[in-house]
Amino acid sequence: MSTNEQLASSVCGDAAAHAEPADATTRQATLIEPLARPLSGAVRVPGDKSISHRSVLFSAMAEGTSHVSGVLDSADVRSSIGAVRALGAEVNLEKRPDGSLAGDIRGWGGLGPSQPEGAIDCGNSGTTVRLLMGVLAPWGITVELTGDDSLRRRPMRRIAAPLELMGARFAPEGATTLPLSITGTRGLAAISYDSPVASAQLKTAILLAGIFASGTTSVHEPAPSRNHTELMLPGFGVDVEAAPGEASVAGGQSLHACDVDVPGDPSSAAFMACAAALRPDSAIDIENVSLNEARIGFARVLERMGADIALKPTGSAGEEPCGTISVSYVEHLHSCEVVGREIASLVDEIPVLALVAAHAEGTTVFHEVGELRVKETDRLAAILEGLSKLGVRAWAEGDDLHIEGKPGLVVPEGLVFDSLGDHRLAMTWSLVGFTGAHPVSIRDFEAVRVSYPGFRADIERLAK
Ligand code: S3P
Repeated sequence: MSTNEQLASSVCGDAAAHAEPADATTRQATLIEPLARPLSGAVRVPGDKSISHRSVLFSAMAEGTSHVSGVLDSADVRSSIGAVRALGAEVNLEKRPDGSLAGDIRGWGGLGPSQPEGAIDCGNSGTTVRLLMGVLAPWGITVELTGDDSLRRRPMRRIAAPLELMGARFAPEGATTLPLSITGTRGLAAISYDSPVASAQLKTAILLAGIFASGTTSVHEPAPSRNHTELMLPGFGVDVEAAPGEASVAGGQSLHACDVDVPGDPSSAAFMACAAALRPDSAIDIENVSLNEARIGFARVLERMGADIALKPTGSAGEEPCGTISVSYVEHLHSCEVVGREIASLVDEIPVLALVAAHAEGTTVFHEVGELRVKETDRLAAILEGLSKLGVRAWAEGDDLHIEGKPGLVVPEGLVFDSLGDHRLAMTWSLVGFTGAHPVSIRDFEAVRVSYPGFRADIERLAK
C-alpha cells in the first residue's frame, strides 16, 4: 500500500479519530509524571489547525490542482480531508518526516461538489462542519452532515440562519444541532449580516457562500475574529475587502488553485509557552509559529501577567506573519484583566491561561467568555471544576470568569482529571502533572489527537 493509500484508508476508516468517548469509569486514565528537568531548547509545533482546514477546503473548491504543505495531521483535519474526498476532490497527501502532510489537492472548481453517497461525518470538528455549510450552500445538492457526540451538541443555527437568508435550505426545519441536511442553490442572494458572535467559523461560512452569490456579501462582527480566510482567499484568486471586525466579498468570483504552506499553530504553541512559564528554570524557543495578531492574544496576556515572553518575527507563510516565541520562567506572575474584545484572539487558550492565572498573584478576570460554554465541551464549567480540584477559588459572574490565584500553589497528590474528550482540556490538565511536583491522571488523554497528536512527545523531549 502506498503512503497515499494508507492515508486514504486511514482517513476513510479512522475509527479511532471518530470514536465516541466511553463511559468515564471505563475510560483509561493516562498517568502524567512531573518532567525530570526544566524545559529547554527549541521546538516546532505542528501546522496551524485553522489554516490547515482552510487549505484543504479552499483547494477542494478551486479549479485546478493546489499544492499544500505543513498541513496538520490530526483527527480534526482528517475530518476535512474525508469530507472533501466524499464531495469529489482528489486528495493526494503524504506524511512528511516532520509529521506534517504535504501534496496535491485537485478541486471540483466550476463543476461543483458531487453528491456524496451517505452522510458526511465531521467527527469532533466544528470548523469542518461549519465551513462546509458555506462551501455547500451555492450548489444544488442535498448533503447530510453529522458528527460525534460532542459536535452533535454544538450550536449550528448560528450558521444555518444567515445561509437561509441567502437561499440555502436546512432540514429538519429550524434544526439547531446536527445531524442536519443542507440543500444549496445556485441562486444565492448576497446579504449584509450583523453577526451576534465574534466567530471566524460563522464569518467564513458566509463569505464562502458569498463568493457565489449575486451582489456583495458582508459580515460585521461584535469584535474581530481570526482572519485567516480573508488572508488566504486572495491567493486563490478571490478579492476580499477586510478590516478588523468587517469583511466583504463580491459575488460571481471563483477560486483558482494555489500553493499553501501552513505555519505552526499558535494555539499549540500556547501549551508549550505556558509549560515553560510554570516549570521553574525553563527557557524555550517555539519556532515557525504564526504570529498573526488575531491569534496571539495568549502571548499578550502572559506578557501582562509578568511572564518573560518575546515574539521575534522571522518571515511569513503566505500572508501569515511567522516567527519564534521565546519564553523563560520567572518566579513571580500577577493577575490581569482580559477584556471582551480580546477574547476571540485567545478563545482556545483560555483553559491553559486559567491554569497560569491559578499560579499568579491576585484575581484574574476573563470578561465575556460565554462562548466557552459551546466549545468541544462546556469549557467554562470544566475550568471551574478543574481549578477547584487544585484548591483554587474560581467562579463565573454572568459570562465573566474570575480566578483567585495562589502564588506558590502546591497541588494535592493523586489528582484525576477528565478531558471529557476535549483536546484542549487534556493538554491543560496534563500541565498540572508535567510542571508540578506530583503525577496526575487524565482520563481520555488521547483526545490530544484532535489538534496536537505529538504533544506529549514534544514536551517530554524539551525536558530531556
Ligand atoms: C476557528 C474559530 C474559532 C476557534 C476554533 C477554530 C476557525 O471558533 O475556537 O477552534 O478555524 O475558524 P469560533 O468561530 O466558533 O469562534
